Amino acid sequence: MEKRKLRAVLAGCGGISNAWLHANQQIDSLEIVGLVDIREESAREQKLRYGLSEALVGVEIEKVIKATRPDVVFDCTIPEAHAQVAVTAMRMGCDVLGEKPLAASLTQAQDIIAAMRETGRVHAVMQNRRFAAGSRMMQEFLATKAIGELTTLNADFYLGAHFGGFRDHMAHVLILDMAIHTFDLARMLVNADPVGVYCHEWNPQGSWYDRDASAMAIFEFSNGVVFNYRGSWCSEGLNTHWESDWRAVGSKGSILWDGHSSFRAEAVPDGAEAKFRRDTQLLDAPLIDPTIPLGGHIGQIQHFVDCILGGTTPETVSTDNYKSLAMVFGAIESAETKQRVTINPNV
Ligand SMILES: NC(=O)c1ccc[n+]([C@@H]2O[C@H](COP(=O)([O-])OP(=O)(O)OC[C@H]3O[C@@H](n4cnc5c(N)ncnc54)[C@H](O)[C@@H]3O)[C@@H](O)[C@H]2O)c1
Repeated sequence: MEKRKLRAVLAGCGGISNAWLHANQQIDSLEIVGLVDIREESAREQKLRYGLSEALVGVEIEKVIKATRPDVVFDCTIPEAHAQVAVTAMRMGCDVLGEKPLAASLTQAQDIIAAMRETGRVHAVMQNRRFAAGSRMMQEFLATKAIGELTTLNADFYLGAHFGGFRDHMAHVLILDMAIHTFDLARMLVNADPVGVYCHEWNPQGSWYDRDASAMAIFEFSNGVVFNYRGSWCSEGLNTHWESDWRAVGSKGSILWDGHSSFRAEAVPDGAEAKFRRDTQLLDAPLIDPTIPLGGHIGQIQHFVDCILGGTTPETVSTDNYKSLAMVFGAIESAETKQRVTINPNV
């Protein structure tokens, strides 16, 4: 018997839709039945580029859902449109996987979560950097407790990113558009809820951005772990990976992870001689569990499809992802008020 395929409509046929449509080509249990964009030509172009001859093209999500009756909607529209697309899709009986960020504001995110509760549908957020191989390896490594209990996590994100376009003029550009990835990854690694933040933003000398493109933030978590974020989108030379450069400090050792595939770790062995600085030993990084879905967008879309077909909850379900968005807006409020901000991670 042929396995059931999930029928999907993709809304928002801009730059990032390529990652989704490329993933679709590699996921057997998925079929794109409709493409929506307010600029119809973008949807037509993607239909042609990815050979989706059966897919219906339209400019209004309601009409395309009505005509194709999909199981799920993939929301790749701009952040300001996420709430409208998501709420419409859920009210019409679809589950939704949407691009980050969950929404353009906490209020709009709360509207999406209210619609989940009202309709009983699933809404989850694309946090592809969780599904990169290195991120999973780091998560596994921490779970072994080879460095003891995690106490401190640092992430450095330094990229000289010359986008041109809207980002050059956007307020809080680094925190709003990029840091959600790093904050969400930190939350995955700390495995607790964010409860407070101090943040400072600035625009460094020589910046090609109009507004603050650098930020430092200190987050407190419910388990006592402190997460330090230092980032800039306006930093030339010695750039980090997109996943950031990390240091994890535990009760008996530390891990350095370059955000990609390089790990270095040391810990004090049991029974080490008590002296001013204890001798440490190098640790081996564990191998990745081959059953974990990997590969950014492909890994997460496959995970979502499996969850919907199997009736389980996706890892980045929006009731949980809201906590990462709360870190973003908490950091922005702290930078604006120059005060520590209490984060309420619950919705
Ligand atoms: N996960 C990642 O690594 C990653 C990377 C880049 C962008 N993104 C996110 O993806 C989303 C889209 O970004 P992009 O770079 O593709 O932007 P884009 O501007 O290239 O594309 C957005 C598309 O959405 C369409 N659109 C806008 N409102 C719409 C609506 N109401 N209904 C249907 N279509 C609509 C636009 O016409 C455009 O074609 C954003 O939320 C962005 O933050 C994520």
